[in-house]
Amino acid sequence: MIREETATPDKFLMNSVSPLRTEDWRPPAPALRSNLAIGLRILFQRSPDLLQTLPRDCYTKDIITVPVGRRPVFIVNHPETIRRILTEDRASYPKSDLMVSALSPLLGDGVLIASGELWEHDRQMLEPAFMHMRLAHMFPDMREAVHDFVERLQLLETDAVVDLESELTHVTADIMLRTIFSKPIGAARAEAVFEAFSSFQKNSPQFQLQHVLASDPRKPALPSAELMRDASILRDLLAEMLDERLRLNSQGEVFVDFAQAVIDARDAEGLPFSREKVIDQLAVFFLAGHETTASSLSWTFFMLSQQPQVLGKLRDEIRDVLADRPFEFDDFKSLSFVRDVFRESLRLYPPAAFLTRRALHEDKFGRLKVPADSFIVISPWLIHRHQAYWPHADRFIPSRFDVNGSAPVPGTYLPFGLGPRACTGATIAQLEASLILCEVLRRFSFIPLNAASVFPVSRVSVRPSDGIRCRVEKIDSG
Ligand code: HEM
Repeated sequence: MIREETATPDKFLMNSVSPLRTEDWRPPAPALRSNLAIGLRILFQRSPDLLQTLPRDCYTKDIITVPVGRRPVFIVNHPETIRRILTEDRASYPKSDLMVSALSPLLGDGVLIASGELWEHDRQMLEPAFMHMRLAHMFPDMREAVHDFVERLQLLETDAVVDLESELTHVTADIMLRTIFSKPIGAARAEAVFEAFSSFQKNSPQFQLQHVLASDPRKPALPSAELMRDASILRDLLAEMLDERLRLNSQGEVFVDFAQAVIDARDAEGLPFSREKVIDQLAVFFLAGHETTASSLSWTFFMLSQQPQVLGKLRDEIRDVLADRPFEFDDFKSLSFVRDVFRESLRLYPPAAFLTRRALHEDKFGRLKVPADSFIVISPWLIHRHQAYWPHADRFIPSRFDVNGSAPVPGTYLPFGLGPRACTGATIAQLEASLILCEVLRRFSFIPLNAASVFPVSRVSVRPSDGIRCRVEKIDSG
């Protein structure tokens, strides 16, 4: 049943958890404000970030309706309704027109934003490519890229200052390109990618409140010139690498990687993807595969830098499991605290903060009527911080995911989405994150210089508003 009153905070306490440190540090997040305070902010602040426009009710109630705008907006925090929308009724809730128009300049008709029959068709064609993403197969490429990252950090001068996000974007983009095209990204390309993505995120309309409220589902807005420019820089890069591959293929060279799996994919009639469509799918994998992991790792490193006791415990585990040897594929399973730290980081800063859908037909959420064309928001950001399901919801407590505790209520932990359209790369992301955390933290400390002003904003992923500038300290292994 959908409760319309405020949920009782301690009713569903999942786990009896106590933070590792008694000091009251709270990871940066907008303060919980009343509807009135948020209303005034929206009226008087030009383009406030979406995370800043969520009143307290969004963190305590099951369903929130937004009373203004051109179409009804429903924010759904009710686990069973979330599960219904994302699983058995997913055909009635395709990806929202806003999400599609924001990402289509970059992703074309790629599988992440396709819906209905097109999604079914392409998803089936891509199954062998997903098979390619076998972890053990990708692991050597991943490790090579992380090795290069560690070398770059080693070469920095003592007390050098870096932008954490751009460093992490470099290594995760490198990993994705190596697994897609079997070749490293190179420093100049990495920088161009980071710049184009940062700009793409800033110019992306989906996550600005005024667009959600003013948009008309039947008339999708045209993308801005800036967005088209950023997208074409990224697509040109992929096209260049694809053409190089097609040339090598024509000379008889054979590859076993993601690009090859997409090029070789055939549908039931034996037809391949067009060149444009191959670029769409590669763009999905490149975007979905590096941007999200870079975002979640930025927050993980930042929170660890603010919580020395958690960092100490993590380093102890790394030392106990790995001693002085490199991270091997099977270590992933033994590093349970590393895994819990990353899970908790994904809870507090889910890179995909808002999964948005469009109601194709009229429906009902409990007693609430949902008109056709309503804008449906399922927000990992909100449900992960919902006070009814998460004790000390705003605190960083990795031990809440300890295997001896109780599991989260189904439908309340969604960093990778849910159901048939859930992330195909979830295990890769977790392996990659564990590898990077272990190989970096055993050698370096990142000391943020702007810790007091680090604050999340919602772009394509959840990002720190002004980056995280860090001094890199090398750990004396002797
Ligand atoms: C921390 C890292 C990651 C996070 C948090 C994440 C999150 C998500 C979420 C929430 C969705 C579902 C979106 C929706 O329902 O609207 C999704 C879909 C997807 N993700 Fe990820 N992802 C991550 C890493 C990756 C990686 C590494 C890859 C590939 C190598 C990947 C490939 C995909 C693809 C292809 C889809 C679309 C699936 C479909 O619609 O059929 N993701 N991801």
